[in-house]
Amino acid sequence: MAETKELIKKLNKALEWEYAATIQYVQHAATITGAQYTAIAQELVVHANEELAHAVSVSKMIVDLGGTATVDLEKRAVSDDEKKMLEQDLEGEDIAIALYKDIIKTAKDCGEFGKIYVLEGILAQEEEHRRDLLTALGR
Ligand SMILES: [Fe+2]
Ligand SMILES: [Fe+2]
Repeated sequence: MAETKELIKKLNKALEWEYAATIQYVQHAATITGAQYTAIAQELVVHANEELAHAVSVSKMIVDLGGTATVDLEKRAVSDDEKKMLEQDLEGEDIAIALYKDIIKTAKDCGEFGKIYVLEGILAQEEEHRRDLLTALGR
């Protein structure tokens, strides 16, 4: 029971980051201009939609565990510089990847194997987002 509470708490933190990532990607996708950023600007719209889908999945998971899904959100980062925006997005993905790895461990302790399947899918998408950003940054 204490572990389930811990899992709900961690999922709510992830949810705050999902909301923030959705908003940040919408803003960055609209703001990034320049011929060399056309492909990544389109990709950021895809990311925004995927982050929103993660928020929906995670909020359902929280309620299913007996918790209340938060409407709070984590901080959003903005910049006038294209490269800086992508760096900010990359930081967000690193945070998400670390959070979901930790959440999956806690979900294992709770025996929530069905949820782990969903969480691993989200983690795999965060890793794809990270890869997209690294490619756009030429790394
Ligand atoms: Fe996400
Ligand atoms: Fe992501």
